[in-house]
Amino acid sequence: MTDRYAVFGHPIVQSKSPLIHGLFAQATAQTLEYTAIEAPVDGFAAVLNQFRAAGGLGANVTMPFKLQAFELATDPADSARLAGAANALKFEGDRIWAENFDGVGLVNDLQLNLGRALAGKRVLICGAGGATRGAILPIAQQKPALLAVANRTAATAHQLANDFSGHARLQTGGYEALAGECFDVIINATSTGLSHNTLPLPFGVFAPGALAYEMVYGKGLTPFLKQAQAAGVQQVADGVGMLVEQAAEAFAWWRGVRPDTAPVIKQLTVPLV
Ligand code: ATR
Repeated sequence: MTDRYAVFGHPIVQSKSPLIHGLFAQATAQTLEYTAIEAPVDGFAAVLNQFRAAGGLGANVTMPFKLQAFELATDPADSARLAGAANALKFEGDRIWAENFDGVGLVNDLQLNLGRALAGKRVLICGAGGATRGAILPIAQQKPALLAVANRTAATAHQLANDFSGHARLQTGGYEALAGECFDVIINATSTGLSHNTLPLPFGVFAPGALAYEMVYGKGLTPFLKQAQAAGVQQVADGVGMLVEQAAEAFAWWRGVRPDTAPVIKQLTVPLV
């Protein structure tokens, strides 16, 4: 039987994961099947267990099931435990191993693809939801000079400082608290990339030579990226590299072979206009 993997979400038609893993499998000469499975909003565990029972070896998990995927895990990695969410699972008998590769995917994209070593840099993450939770630990491990998290609801950002204490030192607060500060790397991890909303970032928050990074992908110039350009930022990027890099981590974890990400990123990139 062919080795089987799948991505689970609701909805799932938009997922690029089958395409990405198909390209990885082709490039590394691995024989496997990778499909997209839409689970009912209230039926994730049942559909996942069906897939396991039918011999599925691993899964990616996307919205809205990342929290449930973590809860179902028997063996969650630190990345998943601290994020409280998992985006990759591996099945071995009764065991469900869980990882969260979103953050390492982001860091690899920033450092390896975009040439932004984070060590000693001032890094700002906007937003304090699940996407930020996944990013904190891998960014902190690069030893930035400062890792700040700003959020519309300041209390949610403060909660993160609490949850990650002992793992990452965070400066947290609302957007107004950033007045007078500037950052080398500014990451939008809010859901505004999918809307017309801009963030109330104070003037001067983008340091000279800064990179502005939008986690959402394939949406062209989002309000945040336009805002960054208007402030004089030269280097803007969306999350296509993060998407492909997290997929490469999962592929290497499952298959023991690391695929080359560059041609896949190139194929999936939508111009930022
Ligand atoms: P995800 O799991 O993708 O991170 P989430 O947990 O729903 O999604 O978090 C969404 C994030 O986007 C939150 O930080 C949210 O801010 P609040 O905590 O204040 O709700 C942020 N967000 C959503 N809409 C926003 C807007 N119009 N302006 C600023 N922040 C916004």
